Amino acid sequence: MTTIGWDGDAIVLIDQTRLPGEVVNLRITTVAGLIDAIKRLAVRGAPALGVAGALGVALAARTGESIEPLAAARPTAVNLAWGVREAALAADPLKRALEIREEDIRACREMGERGADLLAAYGATRVMTICNTGALATVERGTALGVIQTMHERGALAEAIALETRPLLQGARLTTWELQKMGAPFRLVVDSAGPFLLARGAADAVVVGADRIAANGDTANKIGSYMLALGAHRAGVPFVVVAPETTVDPRTPGGGDIEIEDRGSAEVTALPGVATYNPAFDVTPAELITAIVTERRVVRPSRGETLVS
Ligand code: MRU
Repeated sequence: MTTIGWDGDAIVLIDQTRLPGEVVNLRITTVAGLIDAIKRLAVRGAPALGVAGALGVALAARTGESIEPLAAARPTAVNLAWGVREAALAADPLKRALEIREEDIRACREMGERGADLLAAYGATRVMTICNTGALATVERGTALGVIQTMHERGALAEAIALETRPLLQGARLTTWELQKMGAPFRLVVDSAGPFLLARGAADAVVVGADRIAANGDTANKIGSYMLALGAHRAGVPFVVVAPETTVDPRTPGGGDIEIEDRGSAEVTALPGVATYNPAFDVTPAELITAIVTERRVVRPSRGETLVS
């Protein structure tokens, strides 16, 4: 399965709003159409957004549309603006976009191996995760869920525990779909059960993805990640972030500098006119992160190790 690619004159991507019921591809030929797909989460997940941004520049080269609104379509995942910038700076944006796509496929394989090695070293066979960080969030294989897949392929996964991921249910709709296709053992739980289940010893580690890792190691990821980090700390189990180097943002000094997308009230309210906070992401401070696994290295922020020198 390929989440996002290029076909002649169009971006082709799986419409994730239709999953798990239907697997439908969208053909996107304009930057405006791509921005719409990004905003309604037809394509989502930081690495996939990086590829989408880069391919969007290739579309813009044909249609003459501006790429600035594309880079800003979702503010938290740094990969989107990064992908736009990389392709815009290249002599041939399409060639660079396709390279970024290939690099993502390679990076996910390497993160899977490195992350599974690390979890084996922790003696972890039961892992809790949130949101969707699998093939659907990347091009082909995934970051945190890629680690879980590698564990499963090695026969080292006793159980994955997937949080449903309110309010758009990326865990319940997308991660369970991917885990089922893998044939991996898993259970789905409501978000608010996460820390309690950790306290009860239900998982040996928490493994999550990232939307932006600040220079000091503070990490933005799907809302609910921070509560899992707190729960993991209290339960004495490792909290591991898995993300490509492109998610590390040296331009953002700390977590407080990360813009958090608020997705408005319609996703949350049952009663019209009710005011909400609906942050799509939260920030886990570096001191609660046992390890960050990238395609190149393992960094241990809770021991004071830094990503950016
Ligand atoms: O709002 P989403 O679905 O784009 O959020 C995605 C996440 O928070 C993922 O954990 C993150 O992008 C890493 S994906 C490998």
